[in-house]
Amino acid sequence: MKYDLSNWPEVNLDQIRLSFREVPLAAYPELKGYSRSNIHEGLAGQGGLFLASDMAKLLGLRNGMRVLDLGCGAGTTAIYLARTYGVHVDAVDMNVPEALNQRAVSLGIGHLVSSTSADCTQLPFAEGYFDAVFSMNAFFYFGTGPAYPSYLLKFLKSDGELVIGSPCYAVELSEDSPEEFLLEYPACLKVHSPGWWRDHFAKHSTVLHSALHPLGALFWEDRVRFLLENENPRVMSPGKREMVYAMIRMLNRDTDGFVSHFILHAKKAGK
Ligand SMILES: C[S@@+](CC[C@H](N)C(=O)[O-])C[C@H]1O[C@@H](n2cnc3c(N)ncnc32)[C@H](O)[C@@H]1O
Repeated sequence: MKYDLSNWPEVNLDQIRLSFREVPLAAYPELKGYSRSNIHEGLAGQGGLFLASDMAKLLGLRNGMRVLDLGCGAGTTAIYLARTYGVHVDAVDMNVPEALNQRAVSLGIGHLVSSTSADCTQLPFAEGYFDAVFSMNAFFYFGTGPAYPSYLLKFLKSDGELVIGSPCYAVELSEDSPEEFLLEYPACLKVHSPGWWRDHFAKHSTVLHSALHPLGALFWEDRVRFLLENENPRVMSPGKREMVYAMIRMLNRDTDGFVSHFILHAKKAGK
């Protein structure tokens, strides 16, 4: 799949959209009843509820558990976790939209979702408060400092678990990595590889899994396709148009799944 961007944003929308593959809904029977737009809307990154459900399955969530959704954005994953598992979710982001609480109430789960606007490096919770931490497409923005894993793990109970799902590179960037891969520069310098993330947590927790998601490369294509299903690049905001352009350029350049997504699953116990 390669797409000629020379006339961007003047493109043949059908042709460009169809040149990107989508994740088949049939691959996720647990999301039966969700439409393609339910899977993606309200989420700021790739993978949608496909990635969220794969992450959540690792946590062994049960009714009544307390979960921290770190860098929750609009809170779509917090809603998903509360509705699917009956867990209580504290959704934290710099500025959580007020609409999150109303959305939770309208779905009958207002008692299960609390939102907190805070910096993820200054969390206003007691130590040992959470059974699990969940963070999708956000952790690299604030969690790459050497002290952050031990800071965050303090908020987990002694047998608590953490799951991170996020964009990644299959291996670390190098000085000769093509500039097309430097999406959202300089934030991309914190994106890293699954091996880097394993090392980042291994000193402080028991890392059960840190690997590329089997659909990790496809999640990028699926997201581009979703964005083009909903909006013509000609009428996108300039920032969104630039982002979609940069994503397509990156995918055009990638021949072997260098840009992908990973999941890290760790437990506090044992360290
Ligand atoms: C790409 S969005 C993902 C949001 C959400 N998890 C989702 O999947 O839609 C990254 C989020 O991280 C949040 N973020 C980045 N740095 C943060 C920080 N230091 N503290 C709190 N939130 C932060 C941003 O505000 C943004 O909402």
